[in-house]
Amino acid sequence: MIIAIDGPAASGKGTLGRRLAAQFGYRHLDTGLLYRAVAKAVLDAGKDADERATAIRAARAFDPACLGDPALKSDPVGNMASVVSAIPEVRAALIEFQRSFAAAPPGAVLDGRDIGTVIAPQAEVKIFLTASPEERARRRARELENRGEAADYDAILADIRSRDARDASRAVAPFKPADDAHVLDTTQLDADGAFAAALALIERNKR
Ligand code: DC
Repeated sequence: MIIAIDGPAASGKGTLGRRLAAQFGYRHLDTGLLYRAVAKAVLDAGKDADERATAIRAARAFDPACLGDPALKSDPVGNMASVVSAIPEVRAALIEFQRSFAAAPPGAVLDGRDIGTVIAPQAEVKIFLTASPEERARRRARELENRGEAADYDAILADIRSRDARDASRAVAPFKPADDAHVLDTTQLDADGAFAAALALIERNKR
């Protein structure tokens, strides 16, 4: 079985994906990390390098061994990931790895922006996880504070809004719910509530 979870920045899809994978004994792939790895290569190359060419080269040379790098989680890398993910050649270079991951037994949970629409349109269950931009900004600020880092709520909210707009307006694989996705709004739910709601949804819909 393939479970597709799509959702905007800071919607909690990584947390939900990990918990669902553990519940069913499946493997989990946070596909945002692939675009983040490409973004980090661009940032590491510096301002003078050709951003587009560096991104395409990094995507074609993608090595899953880098997925555990904690540096991929930073907000500057996330913002650059939103930029490089609009480059069609970058998306094309990363499709095969994601599709093979999804197809390998015993089953997989993938989270991202285009899992239900492009990567695994055949997924048995598609969840579109969302929450208001304000709630997502509050969660992100809380996460940073818990790590002892400075959190500027207004700047985080502005970042979230601009990433939402960029991800939804790009020409290739724009971020939108699949026609057959189940929308799960977690604005009023905590992580346990989202997990319980997703489990109920999977039980009702798995084929
Ligand atoms: O989910 P995230 O914040 O780690 O994603 C970082 C960026 O990567 C996001 O702004 C858009 C892009 N992305 C994408 O285009 N397609 C995916 N399947 C996952 C992420």
